Amino acid sequence: MESIAKAEQMEPRLNCQKVLPTRSVPSLLDDVKQGLLQVPRRLPAKYFYDEHGSQLFDKICDTHEYYPTRTEDSLLENAAEDIIKHCQPAHLVELGSGTSRKTRRLFDACEKHDHQVKYWPFDVCEEMVKKASESLVDEYHWLDVNGLVGDYNAGLKHLPELPGRSLYVFLGGTIGNFAHDEGVAFLSELRQSMSADDMLLMGADRIKDEGILNSAYNDKEGITAAFNLNLLNVLNKEVEADFDSEKFKHHAFFNQDESQIEMHLIATEQQTVKLQALETEILFEEGDSILTEISRKFTQTSLSNMLKEAGFALTKHFSPENNYFSLVLASPEA
Ligand code: SAH
Ligand code: TRP
Repeated sequence: MESIAKAEQMEPRLNCQKVLPTRSVPSLLDDVKQGLLQVPRRLPAKYFYDEHGSQLFDKICDTHEYYPTRTEDSLLENAAEDIIKHCQPAHLVELGSGTSRKTRRLFDACEKHDHQVKYWPFDVCEEMVKKASESLVDEYHWLDVNGLVGDYNAGLKHLPELPGRSLYVFLGGTIGNFAHDEGVAFLSELRQSMSADDMLLMGADRIKDEGILNSAYNDKEGITAAFNLNLLNVLNKEVEADFDSEKFKHHAFFNQDESQIEMHLIATEQQTVKLQALETEILFEEGDSILTEISRKFTQTSLSNMLKEAGFALTKHFSPENNYFSLVLASPEA
């Protein structure tokens, strides 16, 4: 909050505030106890996104293999005017906004139609929210940006109450990073915090050729591997651990039965890792794995069913000819 006042003085169209949790969420130490000290080992994905992790993610988006970003971007480029004309939002609230790179398509459409919106980027990575907000007010001289920093898994009830219609934006296929039930719970919670005439614009990745899916999470330059392994640095810092990232390897593959990419870190040799903050250690055998992320892939039907289950009615569906990705506009069902 303190930083906000400063930003406000420097630039009247720029603001940043914390979104307090609605319910108590496990701390990193709790998550490590529950996820890493138990088998099968797993960790929540939000810990990827420290400043370095967020930069690496942005680089993933530019790799040749990672088709979702450019596919969604071009869908947005083509659909933005349609979306803005149809929805006429007073506010654009983006969940997991990152660098907000693709959202520019919506601002371009607003600009073209002389339509005023206020932008509310919401992300767990404070540095990203601030940097993205600063660039945006520079690029769009008419745009007010109010950054929101917090954990969207901690509830959405403390999002600011906004007058007029809001368009909630959730891009990047991030909904796929939730297990089915969690995704439905998350969208239902969002639905409950929405007014009847608010709308949701969401991107979701589609099931496709396994080879294409696998390479998207195994780029040749090894940026995705570096991103995955960076989680160990986060743990070294936050839990005073002594993970040696040379002794783990990135492993990502499409699990056909679950229709999801699974991202793992695999121990390449037997090793003991100390977690000083928890006064404990973990013995890894060669081949032991930590599940760090899932990324679910949808069919048009599974996607609209999920929305329906969460109380949304699908208004518009945009996808490219190759059906690689879906962008949906949905409304709360009465
Ligand atoms: N929307 C962007 C970024 C997607 S990556 C795009 O489409 O390219 C996922 C984003 O969600 C990251 O910026 C990450 O920091 C953010 N994120 C992950 N978990 C989060 C959480 N629990 N609460 C808020 N933001 C989160
Ligand atoms: N939302 C992105 C996705 O599911 C997140 C992501 C892309 C990711 N590549 C990754 C997460 C690599 C962990 C590791 O596609």
